Amino acid sequence: MQKAIAIISDIHSNFEALTAVLEDVKSQQVSKLVCLGDIVGYAAGVRSCLRAVRDLGCPVVLGNHDEAACLPEPPEEFNDTAYAGIEFAASRLTKSARAWMTSLPRNLEFEGTSFTHASLADPREWEYILSSEDARRHFAVQSHHLAFCGHTHKPMVWWEKSPVAKITCRKGKDVITLSEGGKVLVNVGAVGQPRDGDCRACYVVHRPQQNTVEFRRVPYDIKRTKRKIVRAGLPRFTAQRLSLGR
Ligand SMILES: [Fe+2]
Repeated sequence: MQKAIAIISDIHSNFEALTAVLEDVKSQQVSKLVCLGDIVGYAAGVRSCLRAVRDLGCPVVLGNHDEAACLPEPPEEFNDTAYAGIEFAASRLTKSARAWMTSLPRNLEFEGTSFTHASLADPREWEYILSSEDARRHFAVQSHHLAFCGHTHKPMVWWEKSPVAKITCRKGKDVITLSEGGKVLVNVGAVGQPRDGDCRACYVVHRPQQNTVEFRRVPYDIKRTKRKIVRAGLPRFTAQRLSLGR
């Protein structure tokens, strides 16, 4: 019998959000936790978040900000705010953290489910799944009934209904039943920088026995995170956006 699992993503060096989420996970009777990457980037809690995730000893996939922080130079396609966060993260990485991050896989598969940061379509390109076309490209590669991703910071469920491969989607809110047949992709939202207008940290509890996903929203000490961002000399917008949920 498969037990419930918690899936977290896009922590982005927000230690207060991560701690609040891990506290909430304790109340959910889950047997396992999976992290879908982007542990670092944007905010200031680089080392604390890396330590906390590594201490969990759970399966983790690589995110694009994690990858960028380990490169000699961040790629230029990042906007100024993201670039500043990646440069900051890179300056805070210990040798051991860097080695651990570079060893992370881009995808994981277990218990008949796929886990990735962005899209299975081309994991090296870090594609955003925001449209039916994006989802269609992803589903063409998804071999299991169910997959989980992050990356857009927008909680959402995508369906590819069989036999006509019609794509539908629904905003990730509360408890959603995953229909049988066809394929399902669940975007678990972001722990450390939600962008769906709700500033509370977001993660998902998947309960295979009930065939549901629950999008949990967790309040945390945003003011404290913002103070740390400003004190670290990171862009003000990185702090401001946390209260706006965007
Ligand atoms: Fe992210």
